[in-house]
Amino acid sequence: MKTYRAAILGCGGRGRAAGAGYRSHPRTDLVALCDLDQARLDTLGEELGVAARYNDLDLMIEETRPDIVAIPTATEFHYPLAMRVLEHGVNIEVEKPPCWDLAEADAIRAKAQEKGVRFAVHSQGPVGPAMQAVIQAYNEGRIGRLRYVTGSDKGYYAGYGLMNMGFHVISYLCRLTGRCRSVAASGVTGGRPVTPQDVVTSPSGMGTIAAENITATLQFDHSVAATLLLHRLPANDSIAHVTEWYGTEGRLLYNYKLAASWWLPHPHFLPDGERDQWQRLEPVYPDGYDPESGVWPDEVSYVEEYVRALDEGRDHWCGGDNAVHIMEIMMGVFESVAYRRQVDLPQPHRDHPLLRWRGEHGLDDPAPMPRPYREWAAAEDARIRSM
Ligand SMILES: NC(=O)c1ccc[n+]([C@@H]2O[C@H](COP(=O)([O-])OP(=O)(O)OC[C@H]3O[C@@H](n4cnc5c(N)ncnc54)[C@H](O)[C@@H]3O)[C@@H](O)[C@H]2O)c1
Repeated sequence: MKTYRAAILGCGGRGRAAGAGYRSHPRTDLVALCDLDQARLDTLGEELGVAARYNDLDLMIEETRPDIVAIPTATEFHYPLAMRVLEHGVNIEVEKPPCWDLAEADAIRAKAQEKGVRFAVHSQGPVGPAMQAVIQAYNEGRIGRLRYVTGSDKGYYAGYGLMNMGFHVISYLCRLTGRCRSVAASGVTGGRPVTPQDVVTSPSGMGTIAAENITATLQFDHSVAATLLLHRLPANDSIAHVTEWYGTEGRLLYNYKLAASWWLPHPHFLPDGERDQWQRLEPVYPDGYDPESGVWPDEVSYVEEYVRALDEGRDHWCGGDNAVHIMEIMMGVFESVAYRRQVDLPQPHRDHPLLRWRGEHGLDDPAPMPRPYREWAAAEDARIRSM
């Protein structure tokens, strides 16, 4: 069995998490690290015991010949770095969100195809132990036929929540639903429908966004529907980041923060119903996972899925066509919010729908805003109050 060589490009918090996953998986060797910041590079190198440290990603790839390069950098660098690494003919995984719009997602997929390699997005929850337990329970028929799903983020300003958390939340939904055929969404800012003036620059380098609150309906095959609730809360709350699947005979519920999932053996929940007790599902850990290792099991599951995918010559679940499709849903939500109509997927327009919408109203791209979310939110609240 082949052991895959992995390298990490970006030694911040997410590089640490990804590096720990690759180091602990029995089928991967963590062979090199790269960062422009020498102190970060050395700190992570010492922590993970990696001697091969680089400031130049091209040199790292040429000298250490990794099979997989992980790209856990700030979001605005994902697209250019993904394209640069793919040019070397190396499999990649890039943190969520992978890029800013569908034109970029298409270009990443095309470049990977041209080079004969795979690209994946780093969203670990959808392949993690608690989600594997949901999939197993569903496949065992424990909720009967799936009919409806709800998913929420942590309560960010919605447009930002869509870019920041959307890849995770939509992936959870899609684990049991398959392909989304259409999106119908409404968005409000300051309590009234979004206008082209409400299209703003995202915090944290995540491109262009709009809407303080978004409610979206997604339609899937076999009459399955989903509601995506991205509602700004007074403060972020990880417990709000929940996905719930409704079947004809029961329900399933998943929370990433608690790394847990539950089964309700009845379709309709009554709080005081004696039989209506949620039952915790046993997580499905990857083979050989050591709970004493201190490594977040979702990160090991993420690596496990990439190893299996490469062994089998297929895409990681969070990669390839699935990754582009999830971006199609994200951009479909923005397009539906802006144009106030249902958007059928895949959409023919691959440019950013909010920038297109502004352009049609004679507006340039939105002005820069503060990068940190807290400062960004203060500036946006001041703008909303002045309207
Ligand atoms: N999957 C998750 O659960 C999860 C959670 C939080 C954040 N994220 C995502 O992670 C990303 C941010 O990760 P972070 O907080 O670790 O970022 P960070 O900015 O703290 O660290 C990124 C590192 O990459 C380095 N870097 C940037 N460009 C480089 C280049 N060209 N060559 C070498 N090094 C380079 C920087 O110097 C920095 O040290 C965001 O995209 C965010 O959406 C994902």
